[in-house]
Amino acid sequence: MQHILITGGNTGIGKATATALAKKGHTIILACRNESKAKEAIKHIKEKSKNEAIHYLECDLASFESIKNCSYEYHQQFGKLDILINNAGLISDKLQFTKDGFELQIGVNHLGHFLLTKQLIGLLEEATEARIVNVSSKAHYRGKINFNTFKGELGSDKYNGMAAYSQSKLANILFTKELVKRYPKICSHSLHPGVVKTEIASKNGNKRLWRYLWKMITPFMIDTTKGAKTSVYLSSSDEVLRINGKYFEKQKEKEPSILANDPVLAKKLWEVSEELISDYIGRYA
Ligand SMILES: NC(=O)c1ccc[n+]([C@@H]2O[C@H](COP(=O)([O-])OP(=O)(O)OC[C@H]3O[C@@H](n4cnc5c(N)ncnc54)[C@H](OP(=O)(O)O)[C@@H]3O)[C@@H](O)[C@H]2O)c1
Repeated sequence: MQHILITGGNTGIGKATATALAKKGHTIILACRNESKAKEAIKHIKEKSKNEAIHYLECDLASFESIKNCSYEYHQQFGKLDILINNAGLISDKLQFTKDGFELQIGVNHLGHFLLTKQLIGLLEEATEARIVNVSSKAHYRGKINFNTFKGELGSDKYNGMAAYSQSKLANILFTKELVKRYPKICSHSLHPGVVKTEIASKNGNKRLWRYLWKMITPFMIDTTKGAKTSVYLSSSDEVLRINGKYFEKQKEKEPSILANDPVLAKKLWEVSEELISDYIGRYA
């Protein structure tokens, strides 16, 4: 049985993914920022799966210190990792910042997961069939990487929340592509889960109009069990072990955007991310 760490497993697509994988008998560790939500989710997952090996580690992806503590605790408590599912994410239509001063969406959706992955990569390298699953989005097709927005340089007047979200979701795919180059033994893929009925758009102070529009399309959305299918597939299917660095939708390989396939951009994003993180790593060393 495998050890699976999933970020944001307390609700939405993450909870449904964790439940499905728990039903297969794996040890599941939820890395979440809110302890009471995580405990509630654990109770639910245990009931649904009849699997008692469901655990929680505190991890606020908007704080490098919290991510480092989570990784440290993970090493102490579990000492092995087979699958890392970078699932947590947010959409925000107003400029907000992580604790380390990064624009919240690139900070949480990309940089937080970048640091977490780097801190855990040694354990993944020791596993026989390690996998990394990065939950991206169809929104990446509209995404561009503008390194001059990573610290919210455009200011709140010019902030475009959708552009920031799309950028962060493009970063998820570029990160996957570069992971494969640097860690070819680990099977890394990214995915779009579908348009899924979750609370993602009603959090983070999103404006009424956005929330209203989300509510309008809610009846046409798929439920979280369906939304988790591609994450579960990439975490458990043998087929995907034969390929690497691909983008999936509805459990099928799909061509991502031209930018997502740009190796120069992927390398640059990795190097910039590494530099941004190394600035902060010293603080907690
Ligand atoms: N729903 C869709 O239609 C859709 C479409 C395409 C892609 N996606 C992607 O799917 C993934 C899951 O989203 P969802 O729809 O399931 O949304 P959700 O229900 O809002 O779940 C998001 C999860 O991320 C967690 N999270 C947010 N900020 C965090 C932080 N700073 N530190 C740690 N965890 C944090 C949330 O924690 P809290 O519960 O504490 O807020 C929650 O557990 C995201 O990456 C999203 O971009 C969703």
